[in-house]
Amino acid sequence: MRLDIVSIFPEYFSPLDVSLIGKARERGTLDVRVHQLRDWTHDVHKTVDDTPYGGGPGMVMKPEVWGEAIDAIIADGAAANGPAADASPTDAPPTGSPGAPATGGSAAPGPTAPATGGPAAPATPRIIVPTPSGRPFTQEIAQELAAEPWLLFACGRYEGIDSRVMREYGARMRVDELSIGDYVLAGGEVAVLVMVEAVGRLLPGVLGNVHSAVDDSFAPGAMRNLLEGPVYTKPPVWRGHEVPEVLLSGHHGRIARWRRDEALRRTVANRPELAAAIDPETLDKHDRKL
Ligand code: ADE
Repeated sequence: MRLDIVSIFPEYFSPLDVSLIGKARERGTLDVRVHQLRDWTHDVHKTVDDTPYGGGPGMVMKPEVWGEAIDAIIADGAAANGPAADASPTDAPPTGSPGAPATGGSAAPGPTAPATGGPAAPATPRIIVPTPSGRPFTQEIAQELAAEPWLLFACGRYEGIDSRVMREYGARMRVDELSIGDYVLAGGEVAVLVMVEAVGRLLPGVLGNVHSAVDDSFAPGAMRNLLEGPVYTKPPVWRGHEVPEVLLSGHHGRIARWRRDEALRRTVANRPELAAAIDPETLDKHDRKL
């Protein structure tokens, strides 16, 4: 999977060099390219924002610079996917772009870096714009995004990106405005880190244990819509707190029952709205007693 991230703060993305995502990049499962938006400006101050039409506080990101950035990245991806794809995309910036757009500290892993595995990537990416005004980002959307060959994240700052950018590209490719929660961050960078981690860990081979993603809260399956219950490891007693006896019993049926009960209890306590939305048809007799 190829990921392009455009931001005025490429430094935010150094966490993508470590842990699961860092390893996936080293292996070539993930091809992450971080771009400095200001590389597509033309003025000495590298201006990316301006005052909002209609007045109001804050600044709005200018459409021209976003248009140039996204066009250049799409042209680069198309060249990388085309028949003459043997040059490094970072060595061969699209002609007409104002100098080679930097790939931040997180350049492509190597000279041969088309989207790895599966069929060739499409001519256009799916564009994701993080914004508190977007649709909620959920595990279901993470799964949908994990099936895409190419994603382009456009990180807004200030009051956001001029809306015409989303309209322009939305006419030609899929553009999603997504929110990671009902709170306002200083910009889209942290939201993109969240989304990249949620999507990246679902890619084949990224998680060590193939079952880990199956048991997640919000994952599809028998425990769908239930939060994961509490977990324990050795020692069996710590500071006087005991591990529930059932987990030491070795009785798989009882353990599965206990886990489901705990998941239900936790969901009712922490997320009553999720519990209320559970289809009663999916509850067994024991569930209903809780
Ligand atoms: N940018 C600022 N706040 C955000 C949020 N909650 N989700 C996504 N992007 C954002």
